[in-house]
Amino acid sequence: MNPDSPLSLFITGASSGLGEALVLAYAAPGVRIGLVARRGHLLKDVGRQAEKAGARVALYEGDVTDKSKMEGIARDFLDHFSAPDLIFANAGQGGGSGYAIERSLMEVNHFGVQNTILPFLPALQEKGSGQIAVISSLAAYRGLPGSGDYCASKAALKAYSDSLRLVLFPFGTTVTIVNPGYIRTEMTRDNPPMPFCWSAGKAAATIRRRLRHRPARIEFPFPMVISVRLLALLPPRWGDYLIRWSRPRKASKDRRIGAK
Ligand SMILES: NC(=O)c1ccc[n+]([C@@H]2O[C@H](COP(=O)([O-])OP(=O)(O)OC[C@H]3O[C@@H](n4cnc5c(N)ncnc54)[C@H](OP(=O)(O)O)[C@@H]3O)[C@@H](O)[C@H]2O)c1
Repeated sequence: MNPDSPLSLFITGASSGLGEALVLAYAAPGVRIGLVARRGHLLKDVGRQAEKAGARVALYEGDVTDKSKMEGIARDFLDHFSAPDLIFANAGQGGGSGYAIERSLMEVNHFGVQNTILPFLPALQEKGSGQIAVISSLAAYRGLPGSGDYCASKAALKAYSDSLRLVLFPFGTTVTIVNPGYIRTEMTRDNPPMPFCWSAGKAAATIRRRLRHRPARIEFPFPMVISVRLLALLPPRWGDYLIRWSRPRKASKDRRIGAK
């Protein structure tokens, strides 16, 4: 496979945002793409755009939390297109500002990724190649106020992907964890102004360019990467202080958690 132009791709969360932008970044004559998401009408729109660019597409309306559905989708993709050169486990859910155990966040952001990848592993191992890109987030580095569930789900992904990379190495399949900062998408539509925010198109182009080198990690934008990495290195209380200082909010006692 030419890592610059994989011939077959499988992308979850392809109906909007970063997933849609990734589909369009790779769509080209001769490329086969499997697209997964729940909103079929949006998926069809993205599929049409990819076909216009010359790609062959297979649309799969499905929920990544549905393990048997995802197994069926993978079987269908393998029957039609053979083992994918590149899998993007991108589908994700934001929000989760409460701390009342947002199970759906973990179901989509963590188990949804497993449901996406695992059905393809036998075929990838037989083929002896392939690339898996797991879309996590810079939020994986440090629990932030108001998004404990989201940060936890993405931190789980980071550790899972690092482990998977080691296990798949002997089979020639590489695993890249992608940790973006803020991207302007549906997920962040209602956010307050976001520092160093990128468009989905810019993020997808950057991911595509850096994936050529099959790195263990892709992270952007640089100022956010430096900030979160330094924050993660600090003693936890110093980090807490810096975060409280940088986010002057209403007194925390007014923002009780766990209350109905
Ligand atoms: N936006 C950011 O600032 C940012 C930053 C770091 C990381 N990320 C990550 O980037 C990824 C893409 O998010 P985005 O920003 O592009 O947001 P988005 O526009 O809301 O896209 C999320 C995608 O995931 C799909 N999805 C959600 N739940 C699903 C489910 N249960 N089954 C199947 N598909 C599902 C959605 O499609 P349907 O609703 O049609 O199913 C949609 O296509 C996520 O993993 C997110 O955590 C985003």
